[in-house]
Amino acid sequence: MTEPTLRRRRIVTAGGALVACTAFQAPIVRAQPAKLRVGMMLPSTGTYSPLGAAITNGFRMAIDELGGKVGGREVEYFTVDDESNPAKGPENASRLVQRDKVDVLVGTVHSGVALGMAKVARESNTLLLIPNAGADDITGPMCSPGIYRTSFSNWQPSYAAGAVAAQKKHKTAVWISWKYAAGEEAGRGFKEGFEKGGGKIVKELWLPFPREEFQALLSEIASLKPDAVGCFFAGAGAAKFIKDYAGAGLKEKIPLYSAGFLTDGVLQAVKAEAQGLLTTLHYADSLPIRRDEDFRRKYAVTFKLQPDVYAVQGYDAGLLLGQAMTAVRGDVSNKAGIAKALEGTVVDSPRGKWTMSKAHNPVQDIYLREVVGEQNKYVSVAMKQLADPARGCKA
Ligand code: BEZ
Repeated sequence: MTEPTLRRRRIVTAGGALVACTAFQAPIVRAQPAKLRVGMMLPSTGTYSPLGAAITNGFRMAIDELGGKVGGREVEYFTVDDESNPAKGPENASRLVQRDKVDVLVGTVHSGVALGMAKVARESNTLLLIPNAGADDITGPMCSPGIYRTSFSNWQPSYAAGAVAAQKKHKTAVWISWKYAAGEEAGRGFKEGFEKGGGKIVKELWLPFPREEFQALLSEIASLKPDAVGCFFAGAGAAKFIKDYAGAGLKEKIPLYSAGFLTDGVLQAVKAEAQGLLTTLHYADSLPIRRDEDFRRKYAVTFKLQPDVYAVQGYDAGLLLGQAMTAVRGDVSNKAGIAKALEGTVVDSPRGKWTMSKAHNPVQDIYLREVVGEQNKYVSVAMKQLADPARGCKA
């Protein structure tokens, strides 16, 4: 910062009298650290756009609470709408890195897009914070000193959902989802949890992301008559699936189980059709956690909206960036210093305290929730401090 300084000087006159006069001096130049350029790559169009908005709100809220600075550097934002389009993922991430010269990439929601971002982040040695996309490989075979996730692996909440379905004594289940990394990995997690508990997946049904023509598949479920159905859907597509499932007369006949993405952020759009649905997730609407009560109050006042899991994951990404940059005093190129600071660190999140694993994925409580009114009401801890197996990570 440049300040012209006006200094008073005492001058002794020929007669010995002291007088004061003023004189302009050369400006004092104080070097300011360069701003930290943060590239937010999230969907602002399409079925996942509300998820992108909630993540942005949460992230900015955390950075604002830190006074807009991390590691002494002011945060400057660059944004890209990734449209949840995996084909454009690498190009969009490269644009942020090469054209906008971002120091950190934050994103995204869709696993397929995040896999492209992770490749660009590794090749350009850019720090990447993932506030949603659960692609198992990113904290599995692709795990890296510069990539951290503040959300979940696709395996985590769906493994717990499968286990809950088995605990309810269901013996057979059909899996239905979008055919892309998140749906497939969530399906494998659900199957592992369900079959470990003695159940059997009898059929898998798929449709391309983000298609919402569920009718033919719902008719197939009706004729298969499984004891239960497991699924992965999120965003606007999840709201449509819940309505169609109830509309097809299945809700009362075949219980539906899912990771909580099915019902988070959609309960204003679906009301009666969602009541009583049981889901598993690392967040719930009525957690008995003081930190969460404060977070929810402040979020509601700031954004005139209720927060959901996506807002919390974005908020935690902001907290984590603050922790990392403080540890390396703003030197984002010090990946070894960042890894030393973050591996094993405990994040005091509104969802409850979680620990960053060696593969850079949260080790966290997974809650059982039930839809009551417009809330994903906390029921119990379904799995305590569940860690992703991080298969293939050589960290
Ligand atoms: C995913 O693509 O990883 C994803 C998208 C929405 C909710 C959860 C996971």
